[in-house]
Amino acid sequence: MEIKNICCIGAGYVGGPTMAVIAQKCPHINVTVVDINEARIQAWNNDDLSKLPVYEPGLDHVVKEARNRNLFFSTKVDQAIDKADMIFISVNTPTKTYGKGKGMAADLKYIELCARQIARVSKSDKIVVEKSTLPVRTASAIKSILDNTGNGTDVKFQILSNPEFLAEGTAIEDLLHPDRVLIGGDISTAEGKEAIDALVNIYATWVPEKQILTTNVWSSELSKLTANAFLAQRVSSINSLSELCEKTEADINEVAKAIGMDSRIGSKFLKASVGFGGSCFQKDILNLVYIAKTYGLNEVADYWEQVLLMNNHQKRRFAHNIISTLFNTVSGKKIAFLGWAFKKDTNDTRESAAIYVADELLNEQSKVSVFDPKVQKEQMYTDLDYLNTRSSEENRAGLSVFKDPYEACKDAHAIAILTEWDEFKTYDWQKIYDTMQKPAFLFDGRGILNIPELEKIGFVCYKIGSSKHNY
Ligand code: UDX
Ligand code: UDX
Repeated sequence: MEIKNICCIGAGYVGGPTMAVIAQKCPHINVTVVDINEARIQAWNNDDLSKLPVYEPGLDHVVKEARNRNLFFSTKVDQAIDKADMIFISVNTPTKTYGKGKGMAADLKYIELCARQIARVSKSDKIVVEKSTLPVRTASAIKSILDNTGNGTDVKFQILSNPEFLAEGTAIEDLLHPDRVLIGGDISTAEGKEAIDALVNIYATWVPEKQILTTNVWSSELSKLTANAFLAQRVSSINSLSELCEKTEADINEVAKAIGMDSRIGSKFLKASVGFGGSCFQKDILNLVYIAKTYGLNEVADYWEQVLLMNNHQKRRFAHNIISTLFNTVSGKKIAFLGWAFKKDTNDTRESAAIYVADELLNEQSKVSVFDPKVQKEQMYTDLDYLNTRSSEENRAGLSVFKDPYEACKDAHAIAILTEWDEFKTYDWQKIYDTMQKPAFLFDGRGILNIPELEKIGFVCYKIGSSKHNY
């Protein structure tokens, strides 16, 4: 089965970059990315490539090559579904904020809407690919909707699960050179196998076949949740030890290096931090916990939930350390944040540690000033408002956003590093020190700065996972 037209519903951080790379690598396939959000589609079509809605190194280059050749961004969802042989669903699946499973289960309302729309519009057979991260067995719900809510025509649907493993900030690199591509499908039927092969052939254009793994749908769905849970668990594990290092004169970077050289453990995801963020880790672990509870597996649920409790502790601990170090009061004091994104090289702020640290400090009546190289001011206010801790006006009065890092740090009582942006390392720290209140406190939540040099300038420093003796 040869695929000529692809439609992707959802032009977000996953759908946008993934489709751009498929279009770049497969010029013979027409790829249309649709979204209900008009402003987002307009931004994807912007002539000025620096205004794309997603910031990812290298993305502009790929979009420039493929856009309006065989890559299109549109709000005409029905039209794109109708024309497509293969439809990717890449809409968001946020944690439920209401009803049963509130705060834990994934809200599948958008997925269901997509399935109903596909069923209503389709006049020819389609392969439907789950790209969004979904709880195990979602495919059966999608199948049931597709098979039972059609438009009267005899259309056949095949459902595949093809979870995305790209990490933001390195999305293009991860898409071009993935460790593996995972495709789950109905391996028990000839039609199912044919659908799997059709998707394998697309990836095989640029990914070596031995790295394309095929499984049944349920293994594929669960593997995505599991991969994120394992990664998050490593970060929580190293973060739990960062607190112990601060008490014992061990240094977390030395410990991480020492254990990481054991090839059984490996060196990645052992960087102590102010806590992990991002759209996936928390949501996926909550999903895993919820699914385990649904099956009555309470020990399994408790085991994974601990990863999240540790992460919440790490964010709160960082904020409280700032408060206690500043003589137990930050009321009216200016605390400058360098970084708001959940990690470097992205403008995504979902679940970023910075939001929670700011919230704790605002509770203590601190004045928070923020600089981030890629995050827009309005996004920061939206993030804070979403917590519902105080009114939108109070958030605007408490937090100010600067376009220049030196302005953000001027007159500050303390600086906190919340994101590991490379540019922070090369700032003129003497100049920053000269404009600050004294003692000039600095809290490095990402362990990226050269503390001995900063101490020579006069800063009073705290670095995650190191006791004073180690600087
Ligand atoms: C999302 C999920 O968060 C993630 O779990 C999954 O693996 C992939 O999809 P992301 O691309 O980062 O990731 O989400 P987001 O940037 O929010 O993009 C989703 C897009 O879908 C939005 O632009 C939204 O407008 C669009 N959408 C949502 C639709 O077009 N139709 C809908 O019904 C709902
Ligand atoms: C993650 C997975 O890596 C990816 O495979 C999946 O598709 C989506 O979820 P992402 O959320 O984009 O990707 O970022 P990731 O690089 O995994 O970082 C997540 C968080 O963990 C960030 O806040 C990061 O700063 C933090 N982190 C990561 C650490 O604190 N220490 C580390 O050593 C690694």
